[in-house]
Amino acid sequence: MEKITRKKIICGNWKMNHSHYEAVQTIQQLKATVSEEDLIKADVVIHPPFTSLRSLQTIFEAEKLGIFLGAQHCYFEKSGAFTGEISPEMLLKLHVTFVIVGHSERRTLFNQSDEIVNKTAKAISEAQMIPVICVGESQKIREAGEHFDFVASQVEAALSGFRIDTVKRIVLAYEPIWAIGTGNNATAEDAQDMCASIRKKVSELYDSDTANLVRIQYGGSVNEENAGSFCKKYDVDGLLVGGASLDGVKFGNVIKAVI
Ligand code: PGA
Repeated sequence: MEKITRKKIICGNWKMNHSHYEAVQTIQQLKATVSEEDLIKADVVIHPPFTSLRSLQTIFEAEKLGIFLGAQHCYFEKSGAFTGEISPEMLLKLHVTFVIVGHSERRTLFNQSDEIVNKTAKAISEAQMIPVICVGESQKIREAGEHFDFVASQVEAALSGFRIDTVKRIVLAYEPIWAIGTGNNATAEDAQDMCASIRKKVSELYDSDTANLVRIQYGGSVNEENAGSFCKKYDVDGLLVGGASLDGVKFGNVIKAVI
């Protein structure tokens, strides 16, 4: 596959943390840590809980901050009797650009199946937003040596029925479950090997030009110290950061380590 340069994408997944007051404070810390020029060098996305989306939209737009607004989840239907759910259209109206789908916490704790991941990713794309589709194996699967096949099958299931022009815009995130929130990050080599394998799978499903455009992140215990090492690898196009994104200074340092 021909080597090309892809713009890095660094996402902060706040999970169920920060009230809307704390969200605003965290963005102030981030602003004090990174410059406008820094934010041009990579795509930086914040995925707060739904309750902070409007506050952050207001700040990002009023202050013309080069940060994209992201969401952590949505339902695939447009509207209707789905108590507690949020539609892609509702997120779009808040100027959300990226939506995480298939995070292992949703797959495990909320029974999100490959089929639901696929339907949701399609609904996000149809609403003109970009899905950040998470894949990754458990410790048991890795120990059995089945991780490459397992992740490839998750990628295939998530992209089932996707048109080629849509696939070019998506983001995939390799997040080994054993590395999430454990402090036990994958090595940069492990991340590179899996991201390259994911790209090969996309190339088989579509073609090499498409696979070359898809951005593939690594996520799992990323911090200020290890962030730079992952993104030096050719197939690792950015990071999905949980814990270290909750502190604006730490997340700013992660960004600075990558750009
Ligand atoms: P972590 O979470 O950085 O806290 O390990 C990553 C994620 O779940 O996206």
